[in-house]
This record gives sequence, C-alpha cells and structure tokens, in this order.
Amino acid sequence: MTGMTEQPRVRDMTLDDVDGVVEVHRHCFPASVSIFSVLNCNIVKRYYELFVKEPESLGAVLVEPETGRVGGFAAGTLKPGIQKRFAVRYFFPLCWNVFFGCLTSAAIRRVVFAHLKAIPEMFIEKKGKKFAEAEGSPPDGPIGFFMPIALHPDFRGGGNAVKLADYLTNKFFERGVARIRGGGITIENIASRRLFEEKLGWNSKVISDKWVAVWIDRAQYKTKK
Ligand SMILES: CC(C)(COP(=O)(O)OP(=O)(O)OC[C@H]1O[C@@H](n2cnc3c(N)ncnc32)[C@H](O)[C@@H]1OP(=O)(O)O)[C@@H](O)C(=O)NCCC(=O)NCCS
Repeated sequence: MTGMTEQPRVRDMTLDDVDGVVEVHRHCFPASVSIFSVLNCNIVKRYYELFVKEPESLGAVLVEPETGRVGGFAAGTLKPGIQKRFAVRYFFPLCWNVFFGCLTSAAIRRVVFAHLKAIPEMFIEKKGKKFAEAEGSPPDGPIGFFMPIALHPDFRGGGNAVKLADYLTNKFFERGVARIRGGGITIENIASRRLFEEKLGWNSKVISDKWVAVWIDRAQYKTKK
C-alpha cells in the first residue's frame, strides 16, 4: 500500500550499523555524561565495534526499513569490563585523540577535566560492587551486563524502546544468563527509569544520591511474558 510507513524493526547490530550507532550516541548523551559525544567519531566507532566483534558481547539496533537509518541501539556483554578492554586495546589512538582534542577544542578540554576524577573509579569498578549488593541475593548462574540503550528523539515514544530492550533481554537469556544487570541509571533520568522500572518491570533500588540499580532474573522475566 502506498503512503504507509513501515514500523521500525529491531535486529542484531552489524559493523555497517556502527556509524549510525555513533550518531545516535552523540544525539542522546550530552558531553557531561559521555566523552564519546565530543571525541572524534573514528575512535568512538572502535568502541561500538567491540559489541559486534567480541563473541561474549551483543548489540541490537532499531532500523527504519525504508531508509536503513539507525534510530536507536542497545548493547551489552557477558564479560564485564568492555570499557577497560577498549581503553587497553586502543590505548594509543585513544590517548592521541584525547590529547589532540584537548589542544583543539575547548569542549573536549572541559569534558576531560570533568572526567579525570572518574577514570580511576572506572578501573576499580566500585559501582559494580554496589549494584551487586543492591540485588540482595546472588544470581542462579551467569550475569549479563546491559550497557547503553538510546533512541534518537525522532524514534522515541510508541514502544520502540521496549521493543529494543526486550530484543536484547531475550538475546541475553538465550545465551544462558540467569540475571541481567543494568549499567546504572542516574536518578534524574526519568525516561530511562520509566522504561526499566515501569514498562519493562525490572527490579530497581536507589543506591546513592546519583544512581539507581536495575536488574531482572530469567525466572521473573519468563513469568512476566
Ligand atoms: C531512555 C530512552 C531510550 C527511552 O526511550 P522511550 O521509551 O522512547 O522513552 P520516551 O522518551 O518516550 O519516554 C518514556 C517515558 O518517560 C516519560 N518522560 C520522558 N522524559 C521525561 C521527563 N523529562 N520527565 C518526565 N517524564 C518523562 C515519557 O513521557 C514516557 O512516558 P509515557 O510513555 O508514559 O508517556 C530514551 O529516552 C533515550 O534515548 N534517552 C537518552 C539516552 C539515555 O538516557 N539512555 C539510558 C541510559 S541508562
């Protein structure tokens, strides 16, 4: 039929999608939240490629069927520390990009100084320990780590976020994980909290004045479906 637009579809992320994923990332996360939103796209691409290339990691994209445009993405891993693996594997290009960015862009300088305090924390992963404690009981098997989810504003509402999150959640459970742990939602991120706590029905607990931990177990998810 003419004049009807097809609904966006969700599928596995491929290397060809990564440019679109980076673009969505830059639209959705302000520089104060992610340095990737101001660094050169080529180095940010290397990070998202890992979700496609690593056998223990997974990525999904929401795509507009007519144009192939990437409207959103979600990604995760069964092996924690993907940011650390990225930083180690691409240490020199990453340092060069940060250094060059500091020389040429006031925005990057501001973000780098603001992020300096957070770098040691990234390596000791105190946040991860707090999330585990919030869950109360240990999982029945392996854990999957749900990392970012983001939808370009043109694709928000209408259930696209639920479709995307459900797709990745199913992928995790098909891989045999017993529990999926979110990467942490900031308290003031109302859209993300509504998505995980209300629409998807994940468990949640406020763990500090900044973070909300969210998680779901396989048994609980299957019962909800
Ligand atoms: C999180 C995200 C994927 C959710 O996508 P979405 O379901 O399409 O969500 P919406 O933006 O339509 O908002 C979800 C709900 O929160 C509500 N909401 C959104 N922003 C809000 C705000 N500032 N205050 C109050 N409610 C808000 C919406 O009205 C909607 O509720 P409804 O369905 O009952 O009307 C999307 O908002 C996003 O990409 N955000 C930026 C990236 C991000 O923060 N990712 C999460 C990192 S943990």
